[in-house]
Amino acid sequence: MSQAFDVVVIGGGPGGYIAAIRAAQLGFKVACIDEWKNAAGGPAPGGTCTNIGCIPSKALLQSSEHFDHANHHFADHGISATNVKIDIARMIGRKDTVVKQNNDGILYLFKKNKVSFFHGRGSFVKASEAGYEIQVSGATEELVTGQQIIVATGSNARALPGVPFDEETVLSNDGALRIGAVPKKLVLIGSGVIGLEMGSVWRRLGSDVTILEGLPTFLGAVDEQIAKEAKKAFDKQGLKIELGVKVGEVKTGKKGVSVAYTNAKGEAQSLDADKLIVSIGRVPNTIGLNAEAVGLQLDERGAIVVDAECRTSLKGVWAVGDVVRGPMLAHKAEEEGVAVAERIAGQHGHVNFNTIPWVIYTSPEIAWVGETEQQLKARGAAYKAGTFPFLANGRARALGDTTGMVKFLADAVTDEILGVHIVGPMASELIAEAVVAMEFKASAEDIARICHAHPSLSEATKEAALAVDKRTLNF
Ligand code: FAD
Ligand code: NAI
Repeated sequence: MSQAFDVVVIGGGPGGYIAAIRAAQLGFKVACIDEWKNAAGGPAPGGTCTNIGCIPSKALLQSSEHFDHANHHFADHGISATNVKIDIARMIGRKDTVVKQNNDGILYLFKKNKVSFFHGRGSFVKASEAGYEIQVSGATEELVTGQQIIVATGSNARALPGVPFDEETVLSNDGALRIGAVPKKLVLIGSGVIGLEMGSVWRRLGSDVTILEGLPTFLGAVDEQIAKEAKKAFDKQGLKIELGVKVGEVKTGKKGVSVAYTNAKGEAQSLDADKLIVSIGRVPNTIGLNAEAVGLQLDERGAIVVDAECRTSLKGVWAVGDVVRGPMLAHKAEEEGVAVAERIAGQHGHVNFNTIPWVIYTSPEIAWVGETEQQLKARGAAYKAGTFPFLANGRARALGDTTGMVKFLADAVTDEILGVHIVGPMASELIAEAVVAMEFKASAEDIARICHAHPSLSEATKEAALAVDKRTLNF
């Protein structure tokens, strides 16, 4: 006997759990199925983001930044901290506690919003008059039926061909977040978002870190000027990044791992390390979904094919988040989840892909929204640029962190903001103002005329907007 729901969500990551809550708020009878297990085998909703992604990585970034400050920056403030030690087990334990708080928070939200939670794997069985039948396989077997289905099954780390993750020596983001002791030597493949964040964590804790990147340019999707500034800072920190490499054989043994590669000059090289983190992107996940049973269409990458509004090839089946096209970001997944729930309710849910912010939580942080200068050049746009360095910002000086800048790009004729790019302290928080401004189609002058608190890092945003018109006040 199956339990009937208006909406069944498969996957309880940021795309799925948020879709379930929004659908319940809109008056639907909702089920959310998620298979993630904690160490004790219990439910751990929140997906990659909560369990092995956004949240734990930020917890470790915070711990390692404290350690780095105590070792290298406290002295500037007149604080002596000698013999500073890191207890890795405790740091990882704290991270696990933060994760659990988030898992429990989601279970509480399900209860509060009357979402029925099923712990197990959801697989399509068949389409029937009553909707779609979904088998839930977990500690118990259950059958649920949903008139509308939202698939939010996320993504998995991509492995190097022929080099599977063993999570002991060859690590994905999962293993990278629970290394038990500081590796003397650490190699990462891929200097994208995970490579830089995880590389930063272990470098701050004392590892000798090398990142091998296949592309000849560093952070190609980031505004060139900002990427250059970030690279300078990473070089200074001792994060070794080799661009334009071709990774060859990876050998693992008792002593660790050896990575053969050809450098940008075409020379054969090899690196020995205690651990290897492979961070070369992620692949959409539909394992166990039994998409074939109902004829759900996937593309050649394995992503579920959707239209601009997240409708799949099947009537009444929607898909959101990492399992579909677009940036693999938690907030993008959430926005799609909300929009789909609202569309099911006959409302006009909307996700503006032009104003999705990106943040890399390194030090300095890197954040941006909208187009880069190289994109504007490539499409022949007439634009004006304005930059303001944190070096000239009073709050940044007081914080002792003056790396980087804020950069505005605005339409040469209308002054509409086309992109904002930040490298520097708290870029992750500063970018929100730019997102709001772009959503409201603000001009650079709008931001330049708004009163910003003094002293604050946000004054650098205002000054960069003033710089578009060549009238900074403090530089
Ligand atoms: P997921 O979070 O992957 O959730 C999918 C869920 O579905 C999982 O719980 C899975 O177990 C479950 N599932 C899958 N198949 C089934 C099935 N058949 N039945 C039942 N359950 C199933 N993004 C950011 O925006 N900011 C960050 O700072 C950030 N940091 C990251 C750091 C790392 C190390 C990684 C790896 C990713 C990070 N991301 C970050 C990306 C972010 O985690 C993803 O974009 C986001 O989790 C996608 O959400 P989702 O709901 O689509 O999928
Ligand atoms: P990524 O796409 O950010 O970076 C992968 C890098 O690996 C690229 O620079 C690519 O050129 C390189 N690469 C690919 N194949 C290679 C090879 N064979 N040899 C050498 N280099 C190779 O992917 P990453 O870092 O794995 O992260 C996956 C996704 O997770 C991100 O794109 C992002 O969507 C999400 N994420 C978001 C975070 C955030 O928002 N702060 C943090 C971490 C992850």
